[in-house]
Amino acid sequence: MDPPELMAAIERQLKPYREAFPTFDRLPEEGRAREEVLDLLARLSAAEEGRWRSGYASGAVYQGDREHVEFLNAAYALHSQSNPLHADLWPSAAKFEAEIVAMAADLLGGAHADPARPVVGTASSGGTESILLAMKAYRDHARARRGIERPSMVVPETAHAAFDKAAQYLGIRKVTVPIDAGFRADLDAVRAAIDGDTAVIVGSAPSFPHGVIDPIAELAALAGEHGVGCHVDACLGGFVLPFAEALGAPVPPFDFRLPGVTSMSADTHKYGYAAKGSSVVLYRGNDLRHHQYYATADWPGGLYFSPTFAGSRPGALSAAAWAAMVATGRRGYLEAARAILDAAATVREGIAAVPGLRILGDPLWVIAFASDEVNVYQVMDRMAERGWSLNGLQRPPAVHLAITLRHTQPGVAERFVRDLRAAVEEVRANPADASGMAPVYGLAAMLPGEAVREMLWAYMDAMFTP
Ligand SMILES: Cc1ncc(COP(=O)(O)O)c(C=O)c1O
Repeated sequence: MDPPELMAAIERQLKPYREAFPTFDRLPEEGRAREEVLDLLARLSAAEEGRWRSGYASGAVYQGDREHVEFLNAAYALHSQSNPLHADLWPSAAKFEAEIVAMAADLLGGAHADPARPVVGTASSGGTESILLAMKAYRDHARARRGIERPSMVVPETAHAAFDKAAQYLGIRKVTVPIDAGFRADLDAVRAAIDGDTAVIVGSAPSFPHGVIDPIAELAALAGEHGVGCHVDACLGGFVLPFAEALGAPVPPFDFRLPGVTSMSADTHKYGYAAKGSSVVLYRGNDLRHHQYYATADWPGGLYFSPTFAGSRPGALSAAAWAAMVATGRRGYLEAARAILDAAATVREGIAAVPGLRILGDPLWVIAFASDEVNVYQVMDRMAERGWSLNGLQRPPAVHLAITLRHTQPGVAERFVRDLRAAVEEVRANPADASGMAPVYGLAAMLPGEAVREMLWAYMDAMFTP
């Protein structure tokens, strides 16, 4: 199924590229000159970078200063051949990964852990992989240690889709629990959802949709009482919340300082300011980590082991993530958090002052807004016409802006508020003018889930069509 609105949206995105750049749908007979290829790559990149660099994107690029990007590229280039699978050839990759994990563990309360169960972990390729790995560890741990055949996970509906992906990929039963009026996990519902098969309870710090922090202390205490795991998804917050807390922002306890927290995910490739393809998964104690690992002793290809889903891995991305962390340092992250929270205050106040809009929950720097007066997806479309790439949310219909260092550039937060006010006024004046993503979200809200999934498959098919 391919509703015309969705296909039109894809066409709008891809058409300029298809027209302006040569297409390769089979290998060229003779390889093109490297300069020509590099020129093509440079033109493609130049056509794209204006929007994110000048702060028109929600999330997506978290640091993005020219000098920082060049620094990451230099770190990557120096280690571009490195593969941690071959630790004899590239011991440096093991050093980078071990230190990335140690620095993240230290930041997230690892120093407070019982030395008998220290906080350990592995590097991974991104938030989704960190979450999939943690859920695999809980599944296998519950089977091995508690004899649970079909372990389940208790997941607030606002937790990232990666938990659902984990459930689908790994055959884990997912018990979805609702949220309360503040868009945080409903504790009574979580309590009621725990049963003898529960392997892990999930909380977000903060959640992707509304940027609010689940009641982690209470979730962790519940987990402790029932002898089950508690995973805190700090993919977004891991490198901001410790510093926001130091700056006096209202940050409830969320990390390994809480005894019931047994694992965390934190993305170096978001607010850790690394290049894309890097995250960390942490566990309280080596027992859980061992249930993440893969090792085989009877393969003709030799003794084989690998800590994450991939076999060969890009050591260069670990070099770049390590470089980002070491070069930014505590002071750098603190100042970044300060600037982000300042920009967020401007955006929050600005949204609150736009007639007809309301902010969902009590967020820090990922700010979702909805409207009872205008179609918020049409507002998103009018913002897109002004260059903005915002995130559409559903249940309830809303839109969010995840503030990054790109929005701390002078005037960007103010520009967002100005454009948003104008976009809302436009929609109010022309409520019937629905093109762009608004009809797609409208359709998605009316169709059964299976039909929407097929629509999204068609989208992915189109993305893979040269
Ligand atoms: C809270 C949260 N968890 C997990 C993820 C998944 O991260 P990734 O896109 O790196 O796989 C995201 C991504 O935005 C997120 O916001």
